[in-house]
Amino acid sequence: MTKKTGKKNSQDQIAEILEGIQSESRVQEMKNYIQHGRTTTYEHCENVARLSCAIDRKLSLGSDINALVTGAMLHDFFLYDWHDSELSLESLHGFHHPKIASQNARKYLDVDDRTSHVIDTHMWPFTITKIPLSREAWIVCVADKAVSLYETIFRR
Ligand SMILES: [Fe+2]
Ligand SMILES: [Fe+2]
Repeated sequence: MTKKTGKKNSQDQIAEILEGIQSESRVQEMKNYIQHGRTTTYEHCENVARLSCAIDRKLSLGSDINALVTGAMLHDFFLYDWHDSELSLESLHGFHHPKIASQNARKYLDVDDRTSHVIDTHMWPFTITKIPLSREAWIVCVADKAVSLYETIFRR
């Protein structure tokens, strides 16, 4: 995958980072799973990545764009159907999936600590001890909730 560093939040840089992640076949597998309503996990993650970048840009937060985009695109990279799996109780899935997603992100895309922290903490405050401690983690944590609400209500 493309390893980009730096803080420039431009459409070109976002597209380049997303392209690098989305070219991985394991990431494409997220198209096979439904996240909310009619939205696949892949679409959901891309929506969170785009909203995260918009929040960073609007509020001039100066995030590390590689950690922000990569963390957002892989925050639900757990690769199973949470509606059917043994973890089908939403509470169990909600509790366990950030760790599974970050393990997959490290295994398949060799992400760094800053990025895996974004993934590990995105369910806070549900995962009470996994507190977001970076601006990228906070942005993805908030963007995920907003996008999930929108998809659940308007994309049924
Ligand atoms: Fe999640
Ligand atoms: Fe999510």
